[in-house]
Amino acid sequence: MSNFTKPFRQSLIGEIWDFTGPGYRKAKKRFTRQSWSTDKHIVLTGATSGLGLSTAKSLAVAGANLTLVVRDPARGQALQQECESLGASSCQVLIADLALLADTRRVIDALVAQNRPVDVLINNAGALFNARAETAEGIEQSTSLLLLSPVILMQGLKPLLQAAGSARVVNVVSGGMYTQRLSMSWLRSGFAHRYDGPAVYAQAKRALSIVTQEWHEEWAKHGVFINTMHPGWADTPGVQSALPTFRRITQWILRSPEEGADTIVWMAADDDLEGVSGCLFLDRQARRYYLNKKSQERPTDRRALLSFVSEFVSS
Ligand SMILES: NC(=O)c1ccc[n+]([C@@H]2O[C@H](COP(=O)([O-])OP(=O)(O)OC[C@H]3O[C@@H](n4cnc5c(N)ncnc54)[C@H](OP(=O)(O)O)[C@@H]3O)[C@@H](O)[C@H]2O)c1
Repeated sequence: MSNFTKPFRQSLIGEIWDFTGPGYRKAKKRFTRQSWSTDKHIVLTGATSGLGLSTAKSLAVAGANLTLVVRDPARGQALQQECESLGASSCQVLIADLALLADTRRVIDALVAQNRPVDVLINNAGALFNARAETAEGIEQSTSLLLLSPVILMQGLKPLLQAAGSARVVNVVSGGMYTQRLSMSWLRSGFAHRYDGPAVYAQAKRALSIVTQEWHEEWAKHGVFINTMHPGWADTPGVQSALPTFRRITQWILRSPEEGADTIVWMAADDDLEGVSGCLFLDRQARRYYLNKKSQERPTDRRALLSFVSEFVSS
């Protein structure tokens, strides 16, 4: 176990302070010189705003071959041009509303048709919904966007990830999940009772982190190394629109999008991460998945979650 994969233990207050801008700048002092392989084919979702936009630009500057999955064609086209001018070796844009499983599957079909190995998949697209809604496919939207879409992308792109020889998946979760213990009865009900946006968001992120933990050993045997990261608290358009009060109070300590995205870029590109899987990273350091026993799910819920996602992966 290397230095950065040994889960870092902090006091509870220290752990939360690490989410902030000052927390990032303190952590940055221990970042070592990077050895990056950037001639990779990287599939990034949610590239038009916030952390995804910062990630796309950094990877473009580093010369990556980018596939950007976005939902707005005009913004996608402008970003493609920007990434090419920043130095991306290549850049293509695929249009999808990732809250729709049919669109997610269309992204997979398009990439499989190209038959081009995928070195890195970054599941970054996300949103916190303060009001409950179901998608046109009848699925509660947080579940669809934050859990099912990333899981379906992982599974659908697995052959292309394996074809890369050694590949990575970066699942962007949230420190908010520390507040939640997975409740499968609540998730299965589509959060129909007592809907609470931040709690539902955190449930979906918690669920994605559990799937990553459950799958990583088996996937590593096939040369696909899957990890999660949380970006701390970054001042992005997503936070500004979904959590205006939180943002107003905490603005003075929020990170910039670049600071929040730093670990995503590091996980995609740094050679030191070769062969590492099953970790949750913040600021290039593995962190605990749970800060207390209360948020640890029951084994029955863990099993029920795997069976829930498999219904969608195989359908
Ligand atoms: N910022 C934070 O402090 C923070 C903390 C913890 C976790 N996160 C996670 O970090 C990730 C990025 O968040 P952010 O803060 O950068 O938010 P953001 O500024 O709102 O960016 C979110 C990105 O996801 C895309 N997206 C949202 N819904 C989509 C959909 N249905 N289909 C396709 N793309 C969709 C957005 O597209 P449009 O540009 O078209 O809206 C945008 O590009 C998310 O997974 C979020 O949960 C953020």
